[in-house]
Amino acid sequence: MRSLSLLTPSGSLTLGNLLGALRPMRDAVAGADCFYGVADLHALTVEHDPAVLRERTRELATCLLAAGLDGATLFRQSRVPAHAVLAQLLESVAGTGELGRMIQFREKARAHRGDGLPVARASLFTYPVLMAADILLYRPDRVPVGDDQRQHVELTRDLALRFNARYGPVFTVPELVVPKAGARVMDLADPTRKMSKSDAAHGRGAGVIGLLDPPEVVRRTIARAVTDGDVGPDAVRADRATKPGVTNLLEILAACGGDAAGITTYGALKRSVTDAVVATLEPVQRRYAELAADPGHVEAVFAAGEARCREVTAPVLAAASTAIGL
Ligand code: ADP
Ligand code: NA
Repeated sequence: MRSLSLLTPSGSLTLGNLLGALRPMRDAVAGADCFYGVADLHALTVEHDPAVLRERTRELATCLLAAGLDGATLFRQSRVPAHAVLAQLLESVAGTGELGRMIQFREKARAHRGDGLPVARASLFTYPVLMAADILLYRPDRVPVGDDQRQHVELTRDLALRFNARYGPVFTVPELVVPKAGARVMDLADPTRKMSKSDAAHGRGAGVIGLLDPPEVVRRTIARAVTDGDVGPDAVRADRATKPGVTNLLEILAACGGDAAGITTYGALKRSVTDAVVATLEPVQRRYAELAADPGHVEAVFAAGEARCREVTAPVLAAASTAIGL
């Protein structure tokens, strides 16, 4: 069983990324041959600063190790050139019409501003083809994706089927796996939005808990969390529709191993959530500090992972190249 996940270095990781992605990724390592990548090429699809991207890539790589993913094959996408080369080949079976219909492209292109370019970057347009290459190169059994990536994985399947039909049976057509509902952490300042590391429109918001935030910052962020005006013994209860803020806090508390039994005020709830979140982040942050002090180790782990990726993907790229006439 082979499983694949990529994370884009589009901002510093959040508590949402830890509970919704890194934890399930860590749990999957025991039961599958896992490939986990830092998708630095994907970060080039929107306005970026080279020095910031390099730093975010280093930070994300270090976080993957700090979160206990060392049992997986870890890699930086740009260090495995087969990703970019296969994407180039797949562009020959992708149509401009279908790429233009991708919801994420349309949304991000609309939000686009600045950049010195008249329109969104061409790499934003072709991003789903690169994602298809990311997946097809590894012939994974499982591609766990959230709802927002569903359309892109459908496109990946279409491109694989089309390539196979036209040029020969090169690709395994992956099954889309929607992972069992993990914790979905909402923004503490606006609990109707998910907590996100990358929100071009809003920047790093006041309702985001960073994976590397020190305890005092976590405490302040949670103290400011939006709740509601309910009072009395019945106020502390989950109801996503009418009490999204309180529900979010209760879910974070549960996901971080806390217990809401006996809590009757929002102040007490926030203190419990703070304790649970700080305790959850502490071991990851401690390991992060050790790793950050030893960048040679992180580099060596990723270099070894990338060597394995180049080995595993070489036959797939060779088959695709031959089939298409190169
Ligand atoms: P972000 O919005 O933080 O940039 P991505 O869209 O890059 O996150 O998703 C990276 C991974 O983290 C995915 O597996 C996604 O499901 C997970 N994830 C992102 N935000 C949250 C959240 N608020 N709660 C739970 N999981 C999340
Ligand atoms: Na994102």
